Formats: sequence, C-alpha cells, structure tokens
Amino acid sequence: MTAALAPDLAGTLDSNITVVPPQVFRQLSPVLPATGVIAIAQRPQTSLPEVFNNPAPAPLVLLENPRSHGNLGAVVRVAAAVGAAGVIATGEHDPWHPSALVGAAGLHFALPVAWAEQWGKEWAGSAERGGRPLVAIDPAGAPLQPGLIPERAALAFGSEREGLSRELRAAADCCLAIPMQPGVSSLNLATAVAVALYAWRLARP
Ligand SMILES: C[S@@+](CC[C@H](N)C(=O)[O-])C[C@H]1O[C@@H](n2cnc3c(N)ncnc32)[C@H](O)[C@@H]1O
Repeated sequence: MTAALAPDLAGTLDSNITVVPPQVFRQLSPVLPATGVIAIAQRPQTSLPEVFNNPAPAPLVLLENPRSHGNLGAVVRVAAAVGAAGVIATGEHDPWHPSALVGAAGLHFALPVAWAEQWGKEWAGSAERGGRPLVAIDPAGAPLQPGLIPERAALAFGSEREGLSRELRAAADCCLAIPMQPGVSSLNLATAVAVALYAWRLARP
C-alpha cells in the first residue's frame, strides 16, 4: 500500500507508526477521521517575506480575509497541484486550521502557506512583495486571457461575501476578471483560484 501511494516513504513509514488506544487517539485528533489513521507533523513557521521571495518562477495566491476553511483547503490543494509559489491568507481564519488541512489532503506541506492576520499596507510596494506584480482577480476587471498573468504575480482574491477590499484593488498593478455568462455574479472563491492558476499554468511555454 505504502509502496503504491507514497513510494518515497516506503522503508521509513513503518518505523514511525504507533498504535494508540481510542481515548488517546481522540485527544490527538481534533477532527476524527473515519480511517482511524492520523499523521502528526510539525507546522512550519513560514514568514511572509519567505513566501513573497520564494524564487520559484510561479505566481502565489493571496487570499484577503477568506471565511471558509473548506475554501482555504481547496485553495491550498489546487495551488500545490499547479506548482504555485505559496499561499497567504489574511484575516481571522488560519489557513492551517484542521478543517483546512483535511480539505487540502495535507498538501500544506507541499508549498509555503502563511497566515497574515492583517493585510499590511507595507506590502503595497513591489519591493516588499519580492518584486511580484500585484494582480487583483475580481469580477470587475478586464477579461482574463491566456498569457496575461505574469510568471511571478501575487494573485489577490477577495472574501466569499465582500470580495476584494478597495485598498487592495487600489494597490493592484492590474485587475483581471474570469469571464462568466450574463446573470452570474461570481464564482466560488476556490473555483476562481483554480481557474486563474490554470490559466497561468496552461499558457506556460
Ligand atoms: C465569491 S467571490 C466574491 C463575490 C463578491 N460579491 C464580489 O463581487 O467580488 C470571491 C472572490 O473570488 C474571485 N472571483 C469570483 N468570481 C470571479 C470572476 N468571475 N472573476 C474574477 N474573480 C472572481 C474574486 O477574487 C472574489 O473576490
């Protein structure tokens, strides 16, 4: 089973497995999985400059005040799949919340994921963002087309209800919209992130 699903762990996994009584399991796991198996790992302490300065030639995802742990998990998962440079979430909701970790199938460990409780005006400058252009993804922007997303962009997405703040849109270098049929006002947040990231990925040479 390990050899098929995670060949890189074959040989080391067995020595790291411990069987514990149900009451200990309940104490260890805030969200009880039906499988009866949990992995315990240390959360990496990732700073914002580390994410912004990630040298990977790929965009990062900046979520402004997301409210749903389900969306946070789905965003981390697709960001890992696309090969994004990282995910930053501002606001009250920790992207490392157990529900978000489950939603991401643990892919938080595949790329830098940082929590910035406050969106700092200090990142409004390109230098503070590691030279990354700030691209607002917003239904009111210009139509998104293949090739429009710069390689090292910081792609900013708004919260589920309010969308992007006025401050963030004002700080952005450009604003792009995912085309929709008339009568549809917006996509789900995680869906919008997936479309934008794949628009970048599929346009790569
Ligand atoms: C559920 S939407 C927010 C809806 C909000 N009422 C608004 O008008 O922006 C959450 C976020 O997903 C992104 N989004 C959703 N649909 C989009 C679209 N068609 N074009 C660009 N961004 C979109 C935006 O970043 C938005 O802030």
